[in-house]
Amino acid sequence: MTNLYACPHTLKDMTFEGTRDAAGLPEDGYYVSDVERYPVKNHLPDFCYPRTASPSDQQSLNWYKDNAQVYDDYLPLTFETFGVDEDAERNHMIDLLEITPAQSILEVGCGTGRDSERIAARLNSEGRLYLQDISPDILSIAIDKFSEKKFKPEINFSLANGSYLPFKSRSFDSVFHFGGLNTFGDIKRAFAEMVRVTKPGGRIVVGDENMPAWLRETEFGKVLMNSNPHYRYDLPLQHLPIEARNVKVEWIIGGVFYVISFDVGEGEPYANLDFEIPGPRGGTHRTRYYGNIEGVTPNTKKLAQDARQKSGLSMHRWLERAINKAASEELGADDV
Ligand SMILES: C[S@@+](CC[C@H](N)C(=O)[O-])C[C@H]1O[C@@H](n2cnc3c(N)ncnc32)[C@H](O)[C@@H]1O
Repeated sequence: MTNLYACPHTLKDMTFEGTRDAAGLPEDGYYVSDVERYPVKNHLPDFCYPRTASPSDQQSLNWYKDNAQVYDDYLPLTFETFGVDEDAERNHMIDLLEITPAQSILEVGCGTGRDSERIAARLNSEGRLYLQDISPDILSIAIDKFSEKKFKPEINFSLANGSYLPFKSRSFDSVFHFGGLNTFGDIKRAFAEMVRVTKPGGRIVVGDENMPAWLRETEFGKVLMNSNPHYRYDLPLQHLPIEARNVKVEWIIGGVFYVISFDVGEGEPYANLDFEIPGPRGGTHRTRYYGNIEGVTPNTKKLAQDARQKSGLSMHRWLERAINKAASEELGADDV
């Protein structure tokens, strides 16, 4: 079993101190990092960080403490409301991960495991599935379900905050999340964390409630938003990290749940900012951005434009030449 865990506070490696089962897996004890200790009870590590949950995360924790046991009873109603098939809708989202059978996949906020089982079924014995949730009450239901069924991949459960993932960088081929992001305490950080733990070239698929802007004033929109205020949440596109490439958004399940899928790139996207732009203004995208100097009077500007036209140069080249000439006279040729 490969240890992909890292301290969610410092991202440093951790060692396990405690008892192991017959297979050598951590059973009870602590994962210890440079500054933190995270308890492990009956194989389940609790990496929840920060120790005090944000108000929004605490609200989720409280809600699932009271409702985890009936979650699976009521959840199908969402799909029935829109006359759609849960299996087809969930499989459509999972298709967007483009899974191959030997991959390592993380599901954030897995809940009772309704998508987890479908993802596990697509992996073979070389595959690994990490299932994570902030709520011990709901995660225990997923753990029970998985203990009753046989899946081929290695399955690992952990308690953790989706905005502070307890995994080494670039651990996973893809990351999946459905249904909780709108209320995560730090959505921007949650996206950044998903990207951090995904290998470059990997996939991320995330979905949650959103009544599209064009339906908010309809009876459909008003009635549904009244029953479930989560439909009022905005699309979280402003929180996507700069590494997001080939971003696609669609609405599923009656058109009131967004699904955002993207590839994970590295740094900012490619663009050639340095070719000379044809025409009288000249310069490159980069010189136009970085090369601004103090403004001149309208009269001086007109003089420069006339002289530029006579020279046949672009304004960029004329200015370069004029400023270099003036500067070398002032400073002496060696300093320019
Ligand atoms: C509506 S349920 C969806 C569960 C499952 N993905 C599904 O589709 O049935 C939302 C889940 O997100 C989890 N969650 C909420 N806030 C979280 C956070 N900050 N980090 C990780 N999980 C969180 C909840 O505990 C809950 O299991």
